Amino acid sequence: MSTATTPAPKPTAVSKEQAEAVFAKGLEGIIAGETAICSIEQGGLWYRGYEIHDLAQNATFEEVAFLLLEGHKPSASELSRFKAEVIAERPLHPAVTSFIESMGGYLASGRAVPMDILRSAISILGHTDPDCQDNSGPANLRKSKRLLAKIPTIIGHMQNVIDGKAIIGRELGGDPTIDHAANLLYLMTGQKPAKEYARVIDVSLILYAEHDYNASTFTSRVIAGTLSDMHGAVSGGVAALKGSLHGGANEMAMEMLKEIMHDVGEKGIGTKAVDDWMHKAFDTKRKLMGFGHRVYKNGDHRAPILHKLGRNIATSDAKNPGGHPAIKWFELGEQVQKIMLDKKTIHPNVDFPCGMTYFTMGIPVPQYTPIFVASRITGWAAHIIEQHANNRLIRPLSKYTGEAPRKWNG
Ligand code: CMC
Repeated sequence: MSTATTPAPKPTAVSKEQAEAVFAKGLEGIIAGETAICSIEQGGLWYRGYEIHDLAQNATFEEVAFLLLEGHKPSASELSRFKAEVIAERPLHPAVTSFIESMGGYLASGRAVPMDILRSAISILGHTDPDCQDNSGPANLRKSKRLLAKIPTIIGHMQNVIDGKAIIGRELGGDPTIDHAANLLYLMTGQKPAKEYARVIDVSLILYAEHDYNASTFTSRVIAGTLSDMHGAVSGGVAALKGSLHGGANEMAMEMLKEIMHDVGEKGIGTKAVDDWMHKAFDTKRKLMGFGHRVYKNGDHRAPILHKLGRNIATSDAKNPGGHPAIKWFELGEQVQKIMLDKKTIHPNVDFPCGMTYFTMGIPVPQYTPIFVASRITGWAAHIIEQHANNRLIRPLSKYTGEAPRKWNG
């Protein structure tokens, strides 16, 4: 006769008591996984071991994209192969272009915002991608390059539709003779940008490319961790990035500066009027967009790099007879930064100079966060590849705060 008893349940790797001891709202300070892609500390930011100032000074966005996706610094021949692959993938499937055109009225009226149309367009790209359901490393890499290539084309086509212009680059996805950042501006405007403008966009793409377990990357990893596909994980990343506490802050930072400018007037810059505006914001506990960071409490390493480049463009534009006096935005922004630092000890993050820089360059505000996507796609894709290569379902616990157990009929 069998004497078998029910086996004891396997203990979980972490007990409930241990889990409760490390609970932190918003997962602040919690290590939620491993990565070999990026490291962030108070003292610096490194992509695969290369420090961000070094990359912003000496690399191009295409080189950084290769570094993140393929895992090492490219040789000259690897880089030209990579660039050719990406350029060949720039055109969109007609289904995606038709979708963007069909949304023209919604986009032009502002009822639909570019971030949402971009999210849907990326889903449609998935339906038309030959590797859509294949999560293997080689297929994921092919999909990453296609997404990297096609997102600027989506952004450009959306802008053409908003402006009521013919689609630029329907056949080729832009101008195959120009680099990624310049082509992004070309697709939006139909004009090849000046070298300095193209380089500023290129550096902004380098700065935005990767940032370890930020909210959108974590979202993408959670989706990939269920063994869902890259396009789904990227669509989730876009949705997370849109929020104003994350990537949406670059649009909101500029909107806030416009609001201050409207309220104090140009003559108010440099005067107490700006202090008064800020104190009113502090009194109402308003969150000022483009300031603060979950990890960097002593300043975001990316912000001064972009601020300097944007200010240079604004300064040289102010000297142009036909140029617009964009320097006033930097003067106002610098006053706002000083007040935040003096009164709150809160530093600007990269989204603050981004707003002023893109505005100076004449880029429409609703495209700032989509341009962030054009860059962060490299970081998301690298993390999705890393997650799929060494997967374990991401499934944390929660701390229950509801009713005690009770009877339905009691
Ligand atoms: N304006 C006013 N007060 C702020 C701000 C801000 N931008 N940021 C932080 N604080 C205050 C906050 O009110 C809190 O004060 P108290 O302790 O008196 O309640 C304290 O500083 C700590 O802030 P927190 O909200 O607990 O910090 P967090 O780590 O949860 O949030 C953050 C980080 C980025 C969400 C937050 O700083 C914020 O909302 N910033 C504005 C949005 C923004 O610029 N986001 C971009 C983030 S970085 C780049 C990116 O992802 O795109």
